[in-house]
Amino acid sequence: MQFFGRLASDYHAMFGVTLQALAGQRILDCPSGPCSFVAEAVAAGVDAVGVDPLYIHTHAELRARCELDIAGTIKAMSEHGDHYSTLDLTSYAESKRAALHGFLADYEAGRATGRYVAASLPQLPFADQSFDQTFSAHLLVTYSSPESGGILTNSPFTEQWHQASITELLRVTKRALHVYPTTTRTSPARRHPYLEHIVAQLQASGAWECRYQPSTYHRGDSAQNLLNASLVIERVSSAHTTL
Ligand SMILES: C[S@@+](CC[C@H](N)C(=O)[O-])C[C@H]1O[C@@H](n2cnc3c(N)ncnc32)[C@H](O)[C@@H]1O
Repeated sequence: MQFFGRLASDYHAMFGVTLQALAGQRILDCPSGPCSFVAEAVAAGVDAVGVDPLYIHTHAELRARCELDIAGTIKAMSEHGDHYSTLDLTSYAESKRAALHGFLADYEAGRATGRYVAASLPQLPFADQSFDQTFSAHLLVTYSSPESGGILTNSPFTEQWHQASITELLRVTKRALHVYPTTTRTSPARRHPYLEHIVAQLQASGAWECRYQPSTYHRGDSAQNLLNASLVIERVSSAHTTL
C-alpha cells in the first residue's frame, strides 16, 4: 500500500466540503497518511485529528517512506501512460510532495498533542461520537481485492473488514461519515459491491441515511466516470449500530 497523501483542496474535490464549513467542528481523518489535510484544517480553525498505523514512525522514517512511494508510483503511472493520459504526472507528483511537506511540518508537534494517532481499522482508540464528522479516503474500496473491484492482490480488506471498519468509523462519529472512492477500478466503473451491501444494511437499520455526493476529484485514469462520488452516511438517531 502506498504511503502518500493529498491536499485539503483534494479533500474538497473528493467530498465537496470546505475547511471554512468545518471550522469549529471536531473532525477525524482516517486514514490520514502523509496528507496535509489535518495541518491545513487546524490552521483554518478546525479541531482535526489524523489516524494512520504508520504514525508509530518518526518524521525522518515517514519522509523517506513517502518519498520512495511517490517516486515508485509516478514511475508505475508513467509506464501505463495510456491509462493515465489525462493526468499531468509532473503536477501530480508536485501535489503529492506539497501534501507531504505540509504534513511533515505539523507531524511532530501534532503527534505530541494527540493530533496524529497511530491506530488501525477496524479498531479506533476513541469514545463513541467523539467527532462531529469523519472522512475516510483511499483505503476502503481502493485496497479491496481486484476480484471485488479494488487494486490490492491478496487484500486483507475483505467485505467483513469493510463492515467492521465502517461500523467503527460510525461509532466514533456524531453526525456524518464521508467515504471516497465509491466505485470499482473496472472499466466502466460501478459502485463497489461491498458498499452497496453496507448501504442497504444501514438504510434498513433506520439509524442512518446514506447518499452519494457527486465528486469532482480526478484521479486521472480512464475508468473514472459519472458515478464518481463520495458516500455520505448521516446519523438520524442516537442508536448504536453494528452491521
Ligand atoms: C493511500 S493512503 C490514503 C491517505 C489519504 N486518506 C488520502 O486520501 O490520500 C492509505 C493509508 O491507509 C493506511 N492504512 C493501512 N491499513 C490501515 C488500517 N487497517 N487502518 C487505517 N489505516 C490504514 C496506510 O498506512 C496509508 O497511509
